[in-house]
Amino acid sequence: MPTEVALKPNLNLTPPVVLSPTLAADADVKRLRDAGKAVYHMGFGQAPFPAPARLIEAVQDHAHEKAYLPVAGLPELRNQVAQHQQRLLGTPAEDMDVLVAPGSKLIIYAVQMAVAGDLLLPTPSWVSYAPQATMLGQQVVPVSTQLSNAGIELPADQLDDAIVRARAAGKNPTKLLINYPSNPTGLTIPTDNLKAIAEVCIQHNICIISDEIYGRLTFDGDYRSISEFAPHHTVVTTGLSKHLSLGGWRLGVGTVPKAMTGLFDALSGIASETWSCVTAPIQIAAIDAYAGHDDIERTVSDSATIHKAVTRYLADELNALGIQCFTPQGGFYVWPDFRPLVDTLGEKTPNTSAELTKQLVNEVGIVALPGTAFGEAPDVLKLRLSVCDYDGAEALEYLRALDRPLEASDIQRFAPRVVGGVAGFKQLIETWQ
Ligand SMILES: Cc1ncc(COP(=O)(O)O)c(C=O)c1O
Repeated sequence: MPTEVALKPNLNLTPPVVLSPTLAADADVKRLRDAGKAVYHMGFGQAPFPAPARLIEAVQDHAHEKAYLPVAGLPELRNQVAQHQQRLLGTPAEDMDVLVAPGSKLIIYAVQMAVAGDLLLPTPSWVSYAPQATMLGQQVVPVSTQLSNAGIELPADQLDDAIVRARAAGKNPTKLLINYPSNPTGLTIPTDNLKAIAEVCIQHNICIISDEIYGRLTFDGDYRSISEFAPHHTVVTTGLSKHLSLGGWRLGVGTVPKAMTGLFDALSGIASETWSCVTAPIQIAAIDAYAGHDDIERTVSDSATIHKAVTRYLADELNALGIQCFTPQGGFYVWPDFRPLVDTLGEKTPNTSAELTKQLVNEVGIVALPGTAFGEAPDVLKLRLSVCDYDGAEALEYLRALDRPLEASDIQRFAPRVVGGVAGFKQLIETWQ
């Protein structure tokens, strides 16, 4: 038994900040697998594809580089990112500054820190946004959304209303955080809604943080950014973690409009007092990741093709079981709503999303995250399913050997645990009947 030390960490944050649920789910899976149990891992957003050979070589070739680099990132990388964003989204490179950081999560945190005031946050939202605001002593102002097969919408009148009411209640909403495509819903924001959100934010002088970490995984090439409609009000964050499956390399980037005078300097100041810089070999490899090489672009588009096939397969199968899922439009998540099914069944059905996730892991070995982790009320029976539990190298090889488009019947060949997960859902539902 270690000696207890009188010095205690600060546990006074409200609500308390605990281990991020996604990382906690990953720890659960390891524990169950170590105990020899069959697990269908739908809890953690870990993109499955191998690191591209070109990038591995670049890291290896530069492993000896050990000096601290400029705080905002290598000039060549920042320039390459600006060009990449201009090609992709049309944002003029000369209108933005680029910040490189060890993950886009830290850039989002730094922007939340640098822009004083409270956070307008759509429900549902990714797990880390609200805890970050809490850690900074800022309040979260919920913004309602509407989900459909057209996407996730933040009705402009409701956003406007949330801002006006929050101000009347003495809060100071200064930032809106949106995520395109969205984790947890797998949906994008329709373009006319992006335009309407931009107008409200410009009118109320709200800083938009647009988390586009899944942007390049928008299916069918339909990626649009709100920065197109509010170029001077939008900080876009992205990085290598999702479309290149390089989460552990910790490379995120943010584009900061020059029009937001002082923000880039404030972010650089925060970076200089905290992370200092991103690892040198990773930054050098990232120059290649943003340069538009054919092999890298092919990896990105093949990854998106596979994510589209597996997420839509899972959504279709769950819909067939009576669990409502909207058709995923990007990223690698499915956001099923069990209420339509449960309403027709008896007393054995769970009452909360936490109870549902517990039943799934205990009865059929499926690890999922409850809707509460994304800001939903406990009795909203929604789950976030991450659809990445397969061998990404095998999946890419399978796709590249095909001389026809990928079909639902192919999923069993390269993602048997996703298919097994569907059988697990079926089995659990039978126990409720
Ligand atoms: C919506 C969203 N934003 C940001 C991140 C973090 O990205 P990064 O690895 O760049 O910090 C994640 C990772 O799961 C995410 O799902």
